Amino acid sequence: MAKDFYTVRVSDIHRSTDDCVVVSFDIPAEHREHFHFKQGQYINLKATINGEEIIRSYSLCTSPLDQKWSVGIKKITDGRFSSFANDVLKVGDTLDIMPPDGKFYVETDPNQKRNYVAFGAGSGITPLLSIIKTHLISEPKSTFKLFYINKNSSSIILKEELEGLKNRFMDRFEIFYFLTREHRSVELFNGRLDEQKLETIFKTICSTETVDHYFSCGPEAMILLVEKFLIGKGVDKAKIHFELFGTVERTEEKKQIAAQLQGKQSNITILEGGKSLQFDMETGSNNLLDQAMFNAADLPYACKGGVCCTCKAKLVEGDVKILVNYGLEEEEIDAGYILTCQAIPVSEKVVVDFDG
Ligand code: FES
Repeated sequence: MAKDFYTVRVSDIHRSTDDCVVVSFDIPAEHREHFHFKQGQYINLKATINGEEIIRSYSLCTSPLDQKWSVGIKKITDGRFSSFANDVLKVGDTLDIMPPDGKFYVETDPNQKRNYVAFGAGSGITPLLSIIKTHLISEPKSTFKLFYINKNSSSIILKEELEGLKNRFMDRFEIFYFLTREHRSVELFNGRLDEQKLETIFKTICSTETVDHYFSCGPEAMILLVEKFLIGKGVDKAKIHFELFGTVERTEEKKQIAAQLQGKQSNITILEGGKSLQFDMETGSNNLLDQAMFNAADLPYACKGGVCCTCKAKLVEGDVKILVNYGLEEEEIDAGYILTCQAIPVSEKVVVDFDG
């Protein structure tokens, strides 16, 4: 079953920083039932840019309680979609968007008094803002502490919205800004997060004994640092939630694999939902997930960074090269499971089963 894209109008664009815009969409009433979302979820956007169709995932920065659909898009170097959104897109244009998806959330419960902690870096704040706002409004007794890392004070994305929330929920929401290229008077808040800083945070600002859930969103180095630290402190993995932003694309490695296999074709079979999809691709040229979706497959994925395991499937036949794996356990690998977002086909025939 192909995922449906809906053509919607851009209702607002406002600049959050010099290189980040917040784009809002006008979801027509007849499509709203498909666009209910949970705090922390993302949407896929599709645009044709210079004749090429490009799909990118962006987290919603609004709360489901807002009945508003907005994403923050930070311009990244050589980012075709993000440059298009920052420099070309205008109010009144249309974009194709997919209904929200993703697992980066916990259910709210108005009767609970929970303490939440979030770590965000750069544009990783977008789903966090949605999560923080939703929990603070829905759970009148819960608290949130946000540790947010940016280059300097002018590059803090969604600062106005965060400060607005801080003023509204003064006794329940605290923000700690870390700057990597601007000096702050408190040494803790200078530079990136590291283990030492986490030790200090969990000694002086909060305690793992009283935190119910942790959210982190940003580059993989930060996510893995936070996860390792918390697990080392005995925190249950089920309380640690993360969304990966800006994984380093292993392009050099891909190029090397492609060079070795140049000219060879691989026949791919994707089994999913009782159906079978077949296509050919150049061996080593792309990962299985992206290539299958390019061929109109409807497959589950989220982080596309080898972390969340949403794209997990069983390799039934053939051989693939896995670029990154931060999610699969040894037993799963031994049982033949792969992360399709990180799997580069290297054999002439590859069969992958998503139902396996
Ligand atoms: S989509 Fe998350 S590991 Fe592949």
